[in-house]
Amino acid sequence: MINGSKKVLGLIGHPVEHSISHIMYNAAFEYMGLDNIYTLFDVSKNNLPNVIKGAKSLCIMGFNVTIPYKTDIIKYLDVVDGLANAIGAVNTIKFENIVGEDTNNNNNNLNHDNHNILAKGFNTDGIGDLRAISEVSSVKDKKILILGAGGASRAVAFQLAISGVEDIVILNRTEKNANILVKGIENSLSSFENFKNPIANLSSGSLNNIKNEIKNSDILINTTSVGMYPNINQNPLVKNDLMHSDLIVHDLIYNPLETGLIKEAKISGAITISGLKMLLYQGVESFKIWTGLDSPVKVMEDAIINAI
Ligand code: ATR
Repeated sequence: MINGSKKVLGLIGHPVEHSISHIMYNAAFEYMGLDNIYTLFDVSKNNLPNVIKGAKSLCIMGFNVTIPYKTDIIKYLDVVDGLANAIGAVNTIKFENIVGEDTNNNNNNLNHDNHNILAKGFNTDGIGDLRAISEVSSVKDKKILILGAGGASRAVAFQLAISGVEDIVILNRTEKNANILVKGIENSLSSFENFKNPIANLSSGSLNNIKNEIKNSDILINTTSVGMYPNINQNPLVKNDLMHSDLIVHDLIYNPLETGLIKEAKISGAITISGLKMLLYQGVESFKIWTGLDSPVKVMEDAIINAI
């Protein structure tokens, strides 16, 4: 039920109409009896500079940020968490009172004076995806093959690089982009000290190297848009004859739930992880940042499955 006291959260991006995040979070808020509501904000590029100021005036509780603003939003935030800073992208924003009270307690109201509210940025994409993978396997000392070199690849590769993985190979259609990504991650890692594990070895190449690299890989992650709705019949980048039954195949695409790549993996006997899990666990991490509470994972997962 909508009443006057609901605290508002939302997704900012462009376009946002195909998102199902609101369904996932609102199911969780309702189940937990929290007086919050999550909605979608389609923000034009021209309006991005005003979004944080406007949100503070309206006492918005938090945002998720999606394409194309995950990097551009950073300059409008007051504080950026170390991991988000190192990844170079923010997907979660929490608005907090400077004076120490924050929105963790759902009864707290944000101070209406803009100057007393801080916008803090976080990135939950990598940590969410690590949790998705960790459900089926430890990543410690593993060799991970990542296809694609965009923003999602960067968040996932960075998180894996600090999580005890031994080797990360990033292959991309445009080899140059994979080289640039690996250099960028290595630079960020050198100034990022907030971890205990040794850093993974990183290398890059073109998609022509898949056959060679996949042989001794433990986990294959697709971060490209190949096979994403509406192009569901697009040829997957890897067919079953190159996969082995000890491989874990993870597609970040969640629509469709079973992509061409996941179908190929099932034929080969590999373990599969659908993109639904990354969507779910990055949301679980964002929920924790906003509310301080553990989220009802099953409720959120069922909501996503029903929405797709
Ligand atoms: P995101 O931020 O979601 O990761 P992105 O930055 O647009 O999205 O990255 C898309 C990735 O998918 C890129 O690595 C892209 O490869 P290029 O660098 O060569 O553009 C990859 N990609 C997109 N379509 C592809 C296709 N048909 N075949 C292979 N790779 C593709």
